[in-house]
Amino acid sequence: MPVRKPGRHFFANPGPTNIPDSVLRAMDRASMDFVEADFLEIFDTARAGLQKLLFHDGEIFFYAATGHGAWEATMVNLFSPGDTVLVIGGGYFSTAWAALTAKFGIQVEMLEVDWRRGVEMAHLQATLEADKSHKIKAVCAVHNETSTSVKLPLPEIRAALNDARHPALFLADTISSLGCFEFRMADWGIDAVVGGSQKGLMLPAGLAFTAVSAKGLAAHKKSTCPKFYFDWSPMLERRFRSFTGTVPIVPFFGMVESLRLLEDEGFENVWARHARLAGATRAAAKAWASANDGVQLYCQDPSRYSDSVTTILVPETVNADAVREILREKFNVSTGGGLAALNGHVFRIGHMGDLNEPMILGTLAAVEMALKLSQIPHGPGVAAAMEFLTA
Ligand SMILES: Cc1ncc(COP(=O)(O)O)c(C=O)c1O
Repeated sequence: MPVRKPGRHFFANPGPTNIPDSVLRAMDRASMDFVEADFLEIFDTARAGLQKLLFHDGEIFFYAATGHGAWEATMVNLFSPGDTVLVIGGGYFSTAWAALTAKFGIQVEMLEVDWRRGVEMAHLQATLEADKSHKIKAVCAVHNETSTSVKLPLPEIRAALNDARHPALFLADTISSLGCFEFRMADWGIDAVVGGSQKGLMLPAGLAFTAVSAKGLAAHKKSTCPKFYFDWSPMLERRFRSFTGTVPIVPFFGMVESLRLLEDEGFENVWARHARLAGATRAAAKAWASANDGVQLYCQDPSRYSDSVTTILVPETVNADAVREILREKFNVSTGGGLAALNGHVFRIGHMGDLNEPMILGTLAAVEMALKLSQIPHGPGVAAAMEFLTA
């Protein structure tokens, strides 16, 4: 039997995230027929609420899947084997999106960038301008690269497409940004948005979706990639304009409640809260980094600091997973590890979803103790975070 750790488990992973109690209660549901009027009302309310959060009044296709499923659905519905898409690199998730896409015979051009800074807009624009024949059918951007904690300015990517007079579709992965910081699908001219339930939406993993513009739907009509469960065409014929087969009801009961919480707080206040808690985390990280041979913020461009996750690089001589192990075993705090090339070199503090000041300070205090126990030199991070939060 595992030994019970008393008190709250502090869950500071960059997704999934803490699920508010009222959302847990809303999901405590017996089975019901998904065509019953009571459920149809719940589904319609959830869908309309998600449209508001996305700033989008068009289609949303839902799938019983995680983010990977939504990536796959999006690519096989928009493109055909032999088409070319440009994926903006920058971390583990953009690399994985590109790898998944290539499996379907879609040609992927990867825009290689400095992972610690993200794409330079001049580089992107020059790439688009060089594509005179408009071979590139889409530009794919991960809004918030959860592995590196670098966020991309999506309006600037839209501007690069416009300035290059390039007709490519604009696809955005918002899996770790939606419900955490500003996102506006229609205003930013985004044609397909990939999202998932388990981060800013504060729900369990297992529901994913693509929101699509009219231009995206027109591209779908020409797509010949094989697809069945994810095929949007039969979905459009259904009452739900989503799903193939059984509709999972439970996540929608949860989504109605989680979107109610976000709307009650106000989207702008939700974004401001995430910015405040992220600012406190970075203030702590910068104070820890003030000691020689200590930790560093992985992201090197302050204008691209993520407000939902902070990736922290540890000294060469330290295994970041050993620090995480101390956090988990001694202090009951769960953090994210380094992905792919960053494995062992970084740990990640998630500050997205249902979180407040004492929760983030508790996590930061545990991290500071873990740095001390790991004998990593560091300055007074928690004090800096408290100073930030009371300034
Ligand atoms: C930015 C981003 N994209 C895609 C994914 C993949 O989503 P999932 O793990 O839900 O399949 C993740 C997961 O963390 C992510 O952070």
